[in-house]
Amino acid sequence: MSESAPHRRALPLIGQVGGGRSRATCRLRCGDACFHPAPNTSDNAYFGDIFQKVVSRRAALRTSAVTAGAGALGFAALNPAFADRGRGPNRPKPNPRATFHSVLPNNDDQVTIPKGYDQHVIIRWGEPVLPGAPEFDLDNQTAEAQAQQFGYNCDYVGFHQLDDDRALLWVNHEYTNEDLMFAGYPGGAEADLEQIRTAMAAHGGSLVEIERVGGTGQWRLAGGERPFNRRITATTPLRIAGPAAGHELLRTEADPTGTEVLGMLNNCAGGMTPWGTFLSAEENFNQYFNSAPGTPQSNRYGLPTGASRRRWDRVDERFDLSKHPNEANRFGYVVEIDPLDPQAAPVKRTMLGRFKHEGANTRLTEDGRVAVYMGDDERFDYMYKFVSDGRYVEGSRRHNLTLLDSGTLYVARLEGNSPAEEIDNSGELPSDGAFDGTGRWIPLCTATESFVDGFSVAEVLVYTRLAADAAGATKMDRPEDFEASPVTGKVYCALTNNSAREPGQVDEPNPRGPNRYGHILEIIEADNDAAATSFTWNVPIICGDPEDDDTYFAGFDKSKVMPISAPDNLTFDARGNLWISTDGQPGRLGYNDALHVVPVEGRFRGELKTFATVPVDAEACGPFVTPDNKTVFLAPQHPGDGGTLEAPTSTWPDREFPRPSVVCIWHPRGRDVGR
Ligand code: FEO
Ligand code: CA
Ligand code: CA
Ligand code: CA
Repeated sequence: MSESAPHRRALPLIGQVGGGRSRATCRLRCGDACFHPAPNTSDNAYFGDIFQKVVSRRAALRTSAVTAGAGALGFAALNPAFADRGRGPNRPKPNPRATFHSVLPNNDDQVTIPKGYDQHVIIRWGEPVLPGAPEFDLDNQTAEAQAQQFGYNCDYVGFHQLDDDRALLWVNHEYTNEDLMFAGYPGGAEADLEQIRTAMAAHGGSLVEIERVGGTGQWRLAGGERPFNRRITATTPLRIAGPAAGHELLRTEADPTGTEVLGMLNNCAGGMTPWGTFLSAEENFNQYFNSAPGTPQSNRYGLPTGASRRRWDRVDERFDLSKHPNEANRFGYVVEIDPLDPQAAPVKRTMLGRFKHEGANTRLTEDGRVAVYMGDDERFDYMYKFVSDGRYVEGSRRHNLTLLDSGTLYVARLEGNSPAEEIDNSGELPSDGAFDGTGRWIPLCTATESFVDGFSVAEVLVYTRLAADAAGATKMDRPEDFEASPVTGKVYCALTNNSAREPGQVDEPNPRGPNRYGHILEIIEADNDAAATSFTWNVPIICGDPEDDDTYFAGFDKSKVMPISAPDNLTFDARGNLWISTDGQPGRLGYNDALHVVPVEGRFRGELKTFATVPVDAEACGPFVTPDNKTVFLAPQHPGDGGTLEAPTSTWPDREFPRPSVVCIWHPRGRDVGR
């Protein structure tokens, strides 16, 4: 497609489920979260709850806007601030435009990349990670072998550079699809116990050493000793730290101290700290447990009162909450992993709260403390921020490894600045030209003080969702990954979708109901300081088919942008362009999921292009652009998720059977990626 050619391709009507994924993905990844009533039953605000809508006034405004030709002229015509962007004394540095030719939407069973680029599969499910690990044997899998091999369903990808040509790659293994791992898998109630143990060993994460190939942007698995390589599984001992560690809510029969837990579960997105550790976020941990008591606390986290589908309790009784009621309180945290200390137990940082953590992305405050931005990926759940008490000290690893144990945990409350009657789900911008407004970070607790009536510090940190309900947080459309621009400091959040938001529940930060395609939120902290307790925000991108009236691409000409649905993981390149990977384009738009890139500053703000598409039924996870801008890492997760091992819908990457894998993409002539 030529760059100026409009994208005009009829979008097929697809039977959609849940968040726009295959039925199997919903069941196995999220425990069918979107098929249950949203667990947030608090009466926290949607603006639609508060204000009586005056539709007639909005209709009048719409008429005048159309008369003025605003619909055709787009957002810039309505918003002088944005129209002036790129001019005047405060002009931001213009971003280099992404000049590659977009990959077209497709349903091909491959990773498709722009012309001129090359790709390489770095590591596949089952390949050896630990030195001496056995080669993968599909027909004779064991838990012992899997615990030494690359796990299943790679998600977040982190990159820790050792020198110019060597690096450590951290990869989350979010969940398993046993129907694609084992032939004739009968389900958790009937499964061979070794199959369940193998699946448990395929969870967690992998750390692998990689090396650059010939000075290019290509990376491959390193040979030699690889002393840093490691696997974390569902049975690896992890330390519990922070203010809730040792609290009675975290104590169990096996761990009366409440400070050590076996495994991390459903680790989805993540982030990196300035001191070089990885943060890995436990998301849909609820689905692994049986027989929850049905209390307000367990219901708010979606813990099943009956049997789980996975039936891990058959091999480890701790997953039966009727016998070990506190075990589930030990999951749902951000885990810190030190890649340079293979002996150190990963640490669950309770100070960052317990919820369905999607990611954990850091930014330093003006005075050198660390802020961590986090989403709770559930319909109508919240956005959080942590700010440390202590300052980051370069080179002082021991000190820095204490920073996430003490600070303030906040939850976000947002207010729009347009009259509620103008937020009418019509797909049109309000008369001030933007879905935008102000927000506050509401403190929930510090390490020693709770700000939520009726909650102790430990209760805030273990029952964070309920504390945030009580604090009056704003219900968002499934907050997924956050990322701060390295150029401007502005913070972005992917709100992936929310089919449960009804038309009467729209508000300015979540202006579409049902929100089938998701949107992006841009947050500008007061004084551009990550420590701020107030901020302004706007919605720069409302996703979907650009031909649909209710989509919006920062005012950019919509005939020149690509379709996008279900934004999930975010990352930035060093030039300040935002990369967005998706989880749910197949069920929403009828195309494979993709990795898109979009400038967020300058005159090309909103010009969204597609850099890569992933195989059939896969989700585009883990995008990471190396600091030298020469490589993109991408983790196509759950290829073939709609089928079985005997009848897969994908055979990527080797045309044998589907294998979740990590690829790198680079330009053989050394161009910056995405230019
Ligand atoms: Fe595991 Fe919210 O994606
Ligand atoms: Ca507004
Ligand atoms: Ca995700
Ligand atoms: Ca990210």
